[in-house]
Amino acid sequence: MTGWRIVIGADDAGYEYKELLRALLEDDPRVAGVVDVGVDADGHTPYPQVASEAARLVADGEADRGLLVCGTGLGMAIAANKVRGVRAVTAHDSYSVARSVLSNDAQILALGARVIGPELAKTLVDGWLGLQFDPQSPSSAKVDLIGEIEKEESA
Ligand code: RB5
Repeated sequence: MTGWRIVIGADDAGYEYKELLRALLEDDPRVAGVVDVGVDADGHTPYPQVASEAARLVADGEADRGLLVCGTGLGMAIAANKVRGVRAVTAHDSYSVARSVLSNDAQILALGARVIGPELAKTLVDGWLGLQFDPQSPSSAKVDLIGEIEKEESA
C-alpha cells in the first residue's frame, strides 16, 4: 500500500466537517490523494447524489475509500450502499469503525455532523486510516456472501 486514495463528500449539513476532515487527510502521510466531490460552501446537493458520486469512484477503482458526512451519516451510507460492490457504514465509535474495515471490508465510512463532535470525528478518521482488511481472515468468506446477495438481487 502506497497510500490511500480517498474520496470525500458531504451535503450542506456535513460541509464544515468535510472541510476539517479533508485538511486532516491532506496532512496525513498515509493518504496519497484526496478527491472532493462537494458540496462547496454554498452547495445544497442532496446527500444521495453526493454519496452515489463518491461510491461510484470507489466501485470503479478510482478511489480506495470514501469518507462521507451528512447530518446523521445514515442517508449517505444508505445511498452509497446502492452502488454495486460498495460496502458503506455509519459508525461513531472506534470499535465499530475498526470492525467495519476488519470484519466487513467496508470501503466507505459515513459520519454524522449532528451526532458527534469534530474532535471525535477526527479521532475516528485517524484510526480508520490505520486499518486494513485482511483477505486471508475468516471474515473474508462472509464479505463474499454480501457480494452473493448483490448477484442474486440483480439476476
Ligand atoms: C439533511 O438533509 C439530512 O437529512 C441529511 O444531512 C442526512 O442526515 C441524511 O441522512
